[in-house]
Amino acid sequence: MSTSAVIDFINLNRDHYIEELKTYLAIPSISALPEHAADVRRCAEWTKNELERIGMQNARLIETPGHPVVYAEWLGAPGAPTILFYGHYDVQPVDPLELWTSPPFEATVRDGELYARGAADDKGQVFMHFKAIEAHMKQAGRLPCNIRVFIEGEEEVGSTHLETFVREHKSELVSDVVVISDSGMFDRGVPSICYSLRGLAYFQLDLRGTTSDLHSGSFGGAVANPAIVLAQVLAQMKDRSGRIKIPGFYDDVRDLKPEERAQFQKLPFNEKKYRKELGAPKLFGETGYTTIERASARPTFDVNGLLAGFTGEGAKTVIPALAMAKVSMRLVPDQTPEKVGDLFEAYLKKIMPKTVEWKVTRMHGGKPWITEFDNRFVQAAARAIEKGFGKAPVFNREGGSIPVVSTFQEELGIPAVLFGVGLPDENAHAPNEKLDLGNFHGGVIAAAYLYEEIAKG
Ligand code: BES
Ligand code: MN
Ligand code: MN
Repeated sequence: MSTSAVIDFINLNRDHYIEELKTYLAIPSISALPEHAADVRRCAEWTKNELERIGMQNARLIETPGHPVVYAEWLGAPGAPTILFYGHYDVQPVDPLELWTSPPFEATVRDGELYARGAADDKGQVFMHFKAIEAHMKQAGRLPCNIRVFIEGEEEVGSTHLETFVREHKSELVSDVVVISDSGMFDRGVPSICYSLRGLAYFQLDLRGTTSDLHSGSFGGAVANPAIVLAQVLAQMKDRSGRIKIPGFYDDVRDLKPEERAQFQKLPFNEKKYRKELGAPKLFGETGYTTIERASARPTFDVNGLLAGFTGEGAKTVIPALAMAKVSMRLVPDQTPEKVGDLFEAYLKKIMPKTVEWKVTRMHGGKPWITEFDNRFVQAAARAIEKGFGKAPVFNREGGSIPVVSTFQEELGIPAVLFGVGLPDENAHAPNEKLDLGNFHGGVIAAAYLYEEIAKG
């Protein structure tokens, strides 16, 4: 069997793949919403059945305290390396629904893009690999190397059960390399391999000023307003130069190597275009760092949501009893969510006035990840990507987080290769999420080559 037969098969079935992917995307597997729990499970079943259909063996759901993991394997190439392919079948909520041009779970093609929740993050990218596996199986009856497929259903809610899961199933996950397609290309026409992800520490902060909302005329002036206290506290988290003021926050931040900064400079990046596309009047970030560095290799502090008092139409003279903020920090090597959580709490204790009762709740977190990229698996991926996209990949860091990647690295002691085909403007987590069909097709071909290149060693 020749590789060209596999590639011919992929080219021949190109349009058919889109129809199949639409079925996958029709399942609203929103992991964050309890009312979708049955859909999430249905999606896990769909994933399992599809893996069986394309020739993977031992396909099954493995239960966790949350949503199940889908596992399947093909281990018929003794002596060849084993890939652990990771992805997620869960998706983000779709609100605000009214901003979608077509319904989020009725995948629709417009101008060469497939619009649906999960199209890019991550079902579409997972499906790329399923199609590459299927093409090898159909044309050769086998895969060039061994593959364990591991698709989880809780990535979008922080992969909380996965650390324990990986630890407990270590012996079944023994592999040589982790392969993931859940990141982006640096830009349209610029395929990339991602060698670092940021971590995450997420919190909810609750403040209470009084037992009940108060008439602001009768009581205004006599008590602290928790909305104002919250604003004052949040305003003390960052200074004007974009530096985070939590004491000790930067202690574990690894400095960027001069060579790395020089590499970033070479990436094809147009700051003006970037700003315009975001619709931002002016960019803002930590002094002394470029936009690329700020958005991928430096830590952040952000307010994700604020809630207090009267926000309806018209005016209401009230002092709210409660104020709430969701805040999160993106972390870089060698920060950990635990230590950053401790530092954040200690700082809150120091600056919070006695006028409010308050509580901080630690929500999900994830460790940052970084890897050397001079190993043979990354070289294999670079060759495969060049074949799939006609262009050698650049190496970049991503600002997003995939919590399990550092767990794989620590628990299994193997390298990971992240080759994603999402584009920065594909609206992941937002209305009108989409996937470029040209990149999807290139991704299927690159994945098909990848298994072969990895087998070559
Ligand atoms: N696929 C993304 C992570 C990602 C985004 C990688 C951009 C590279 C570039 C993933 O599905 C995601 O959204 N992760 C969450 C993790 C969180 C819920 C713990 C994130 O980054 O917010
Ligand atoms: Mn994802
Ligand atoms: Mn996501």
